[in-house]
Formats: sequence, C-alpha cells, structure tokens
Amino acid sequence: MALRSIAFLTAAAMLAACGPANDSATKAATAAAPAILATPEGKDVNSYANPLEARVTHVALDLAADFDAHVLSGTATLDIATARDAQKIVLDDNGLVIKGITDANGKALAYQVGARDPIHGAPLTIQLGGARRIVIAYESAPDATALQWMAPEQTLGKKKPYLFTQGEAILNRTWIPTQDSPGIRQTWEARITVPDGLTAVMSGESQSTLGETAPGNRRTFSFGMDKPVAPYLIAMAIGDLRFKAIDDTMGVWSEPAMVDKAAAEFADLGKFMEAAEELYGPYRWGRYDVLVLPPSFPYGGMENPTLTFATPTIIAGDKSLVSVIAHELAHSWSGNLVTNATWDDFWLNEGFTTYAENRIIERVYGPERAAMEADLLWTDMEQAVDEAGGPTSKLTQLHLDLTPDMDPDTATGQIAYDKGATFLRTIEQAVGREKWDAYLKAYFDRHAFQPQTSAGFLADLRANLFKNDAATAQKIGLDQWVYQPGIPANAVHVKSTAFVPIDKAAATFAATGDIAQAPRGVSTQEILRFINQLPRDIGNAKLATLDAAFHWSTTGNSEIRFAWLELAIANHYPPAGASAEDFLTSQGRRKFVAPLFADLMDQPGWGPAVARRLYAKARPGYHPLTVGTIDKIVGWKGADATK
Ligand code: BES
Ligand code: ZN
Repeated sequence: MALRSIAFLTAAAMLAACGPANDSATKAATAAAPAILATPEGKDVNSYANPLEARVTHVALDLAADFDAHVLSGTATLDIATARDAQKIVLDDNGLVIKGITDANGKALAYQVGARDPIHGAPLTIQLGGARRIVIAYESAPDATALQWMAPEQTLGKKKPYLFTQGEAILNRTWIPTQDSPGIRQTWEARITVPDGLTAVMSGESQSTLGETAPGNRRTFSFGMDKPVAPYLIAMAIGDLRFKAIDDTMGVWSEPAMVDKAAAEFADLGKFMEAAEELYGPYRWGRYDVLVLPPSFPYGGMENPTLTFATPTIIAGDKSLVSVIAHELAHSWSGNLVTNATWDDFWLNEGFTTYAENRIIERVYGPERAAMEADLLWTDMEQAVDEAGGPTSKLTQLHLDLTPDMDPDTATGQIAYDKGATFLRTIEQAVGREKWDAYLKAYFDRHAFQPQTSAGFLADLRANLFKNDAATAQKIGLDQWVYQPGIPANAVHVKSTAFVPIDKAAATFAATGDIAQAPRGVSTQEILRFINQLPRDIGNAKLATLDAAFHWSTTGNSEIRFAWLELAIANHYPPAGASAEDFLTSQGRRKFVAPLFADLMDQPGWGPAVARRLYAKARPGYHPLTVGTIDKIVGWKGADATK
C-alpha cells in the first residue's frame, strides 16, 4: 500500500511530503486554484472554506467501521495548497468528534471548532504553522446524516450489518473533515477496516476487492481516486456484497440475493456507455460499476464516480426503469467531469444530465421511448412549477440564490432537472443537433475536471456556439432562461405520439368506466401516462375496475405502484391501504415516500392518522435524510404521540 499510495499523491502533495512547501511549490499550487472560484457565482455560501486562501488538494482516509457504536474512527490526512502567507485553513465539520490535529511530523496544531448551525455544521479552523500536510484524528457521530447504519434485519440477507454513505449535497462533512464545497476538487485515497465477512466498496479504484487481513478479525480494503473530484463524490458502502461482471469494465455489486437480478436488469449498460461516449467523448473514470443498495437508499441513483449507487426500486424485471442508470452514467460528464461550483447552479449538474440521459435512451431504445420519457418530464415540469409557487417564484429559476438559511438538499428541486433539460433541448432545436452535439462534446473537454457556474456556461456558449450568431442567442433568450423564473414561451415540448391514444383512452375510461377502453400490453411509460391523466376524483368504482384488471395495487413496478397509490389516496380507496402500507414500509426512496405521505396529510378526516401510523412503522427503516423530510411532512412528535 505504501508504494501504491504514492501513485495517488498530487504533485503539490509530493512536494509537501518532502517538507514544508518551498516558495515555488506554493506558487504552483496557488496558480492551479480555479479562477472561477473568485467570481461572484463561484462563492459557495454552503461551505465555511476559503479556497482562495488555503485549499485541500488530497484526502487520505484511514478509518475503521464500528458497527456496534455506529462510528467511523481514524485519521484524515490532508494535503493543502495555500496562497502566499496563509496561516490557517478552514474546513467544514458537522458533528465530527475531533481528537487532535498534527502536522506530518506529529507536531500538534492549534484548531478551533466554531458555532454549529443545523444546516451547515461548523467551521473547523486550523493554524497551519507552515504545515502543508495535516493529520486529523477523529470519529464520526452516531447520528451523522451521511451515514445509514443498518442492522442485519434491515438488509436483504438479514445476517450482516450494512453501512452506506450519501455525500451530496453537503453531508460528507458529517464523516470527512475536509472542505466540503463542490468547487474544491480533491484527489483521495482510503484504507477502510471492517469486521471480517464484510466487503467495503468505494467511488474510486479498488486495490483489491478481497482486502487484506487486519488485526482483531477484521479486513482492510484500500482505494484511490487519482482524478480530482468534488468532495461530495467520495462514497462508501460496507456490507455482505457480491460482484457480478457485465463485461470487462462494468458490473454490479449488491447483496448476494440481488446480484443476478441486478445484472440482468442492467445488461444494456455497455450500450449506454457506447452511446454516452459517442455523444460526449471518452469515459474518463476507468471502471463503471453499479451498486444496488438496500431499499432504504433515499435516492433513485447517485452518481458516485466509478460506482453509481442505485435504489433496488428500479429493478422492475423488464428494464423499464433503467433510465435512472443512463442518468447516473451521464453524470460522468455533466456533474463529475464538469461540476457545479456551488449548489446555486445545481442545474448545471442535473439539467445537463437529464438532457443527456434522454439522448442515451434515444440511442439505445429508440426515439419513441425517448419521446415518451421527455413528454412525462414536461408534465413533471408543469407540476414542479406549481409546487414551487407558480411561474413567478424565484425557486423556478435555473440559477438559484440560495441563502445560508436554505438547505441545498431541499431548496434545489425538480426544476433544475426538467427546466434545465428543456433549456438545452431548446438550444439544440435552435442551432441544430449536429452543431449542438459537437459543441457539447467540446465543452466537456474544455472544462474537464473543473467547477462551472451559470455565468461560465453562458460565456462559453457565447464564445463558442454563438460566436458568429449572436442573433440566435438573442432569440433564445439565454439570460431569461437562466436567471428569470417560469418557463419561457419558446420552450421545446417533445410530444410523444404514443400518448395521443393513451390520453384518449384515459378520457374515455374516466367518462364511461368501460375497462375495454383502458390500454393493454403497453409500456410502463404509457401506463404511467394513463394513470396520471385520470381525473383525481375518478371514484372508487372505477378504481376497483382498474385494480381487478391490472393489479396495480400489487405491481412490482415501483413507478406504476407509486402513480397508482397517489390516485388511490386522492380517492380514499380503501382496498389500496395494504398496498400503501407495504410500499411505504418496504422502501425509503424519498421521491416516492415524501409525496405519498404528503398526499395522506392532504386528506382531512382520515389521512393524517393513517400517515402517522404508517410512518411510526416505517421510520426506523428510513435513511436519516428521508426521516428529516417526512418528520416535517407528518409533523412527527415521536412514536408515543401517534398512540
Ligand atoms: N445527484 C442526484 C441525486 C441527488 C440530488 C442527491 C441532490 C443529493 C442531492 C442523482 O443523479 C439523481 O438525480 N437521482 C434521481 C434519479 C434521476 C433519474 C432523476 C433520483 O434519485 O430520483
Ligand atoms: Zn442526477
């Protein structure tokens, strides 16, 4: 490991390793600080760090996982680049137990943890005394939001415990003491020691998938990431994990009972990769694997480099929900290669990725499937605008003005995805696909491994795509799209022709209740469209007819089940009660459980009591993030209050 780890050291770190940084090393490191961080949109209100003064360039973790105490403990060794004369560095810390901080020679350094705020945690200020490498001995808190510690009964296999991390947006500061800002890219390496019988995986290159024996019946797994990444992309999972290859460079990890099913569901991964590389240039991260997590994973997917984390709820058995994987893979360019400098520009990650996801789906599954998914997104967008407070709400802007009292995990929403993708589609139509595709590929190259802002993207567009065509830029209204609320009138709405008969069928069924009028043998996307087109007050008789014909109360397709339950709750359709209970207690994907609890709370008379009863049962299995969200929705005051 000692030899191998040298490979992961950055140039600045190697200089620092030879003693205190000399003047030229300091200059070199300073020169490398991305200029965009000094621009107004490059300033991150969600981090205490001051990267222009001193920034972390490399993180080396040496941590042991204690599944009894729910604690990660060990050291983080940070390499630091500074502006001339910087005396201190400020890190982000949320609830870490700091044991001590030294320089590389073991000399203690003075440090101070500032006042803690519930969203961002606290600044951890360290007096450097000339040190350019520091060693922090610490532990994570048992309630660290980035970590879900699961008892064996909460897993599929029921025999071994499980831990996984979720860093985005600002959660990694609950387990890694570093500068937790997406504009401060860091290389990293890690040694993770776990109880024997468990496997650790991370979002980087694994040194050996079997690990090495360690004292105390444990094993140590080692990882490295030699490309600088935003710190929210450092991720880890520990559990009873098996791997199944899809091809030489791709495969799936999951608990043993899931691995064959997952590999079959994601069998088209190679085609996704081919499509993505044709569109956006070479994949730069080495391997691409997918880890299927336990059902409490709060997201559909998370684009951790080399290892996408995914919810098991996308495994429908028929590949119908795999666009989530196309999405996470697309983040290997938009998000991981070119990264939003701050969460104000979350749309640069998610809007670009949602657009790219649809292009990948079009190449692999054809234009009709892509059009259906894009059309569903349009409806989503209209709904998202309503939910954000209508077309004049500032929350419907692409570029947000997050203030320190706004949690980026809740203030950033669906608008970034849908309006962002629609904006790029609108540009595509204005300039033509060929020109746009060439531009986008070159854009990812020009800004590879760099943070980006809205202003930076617009400047790049004007300098390159619209260099000789300012009139088209003017016509599109770039600034309006990015800085104004609402959906501009020129937005391109992709309409699926397949939805025309579906909409007609929904209207006819709603009017007549004649089941012969409902669509049969159609795709998941068409079923979703059908359910969502039905009037919310359709009535229980018609719901019973649909349920008898299609069994949507018991479908294993999570998206259909969700759409169905929303309709059922709106109608207070009692036969779906068991289905809702099962769905809400068997998975914790926030996109599903948050709206369903909100739907229940919206049903005066019966809903809130049901919501609280189901939540009392589901809550112990949910991720801390999901708990935070649903506690607010149902007004949670403790299990006793529901009795
Ligand atoms: N990066 C996001 C997940 C995320 C967003 C985590 C914000 C934390 C804060 C991921 O790529 C994503 O967008 N997931 C979606 C699926 C996608 C197909 C729309 C999800 O989880 O639903
Ligand atoms: Zn995404």
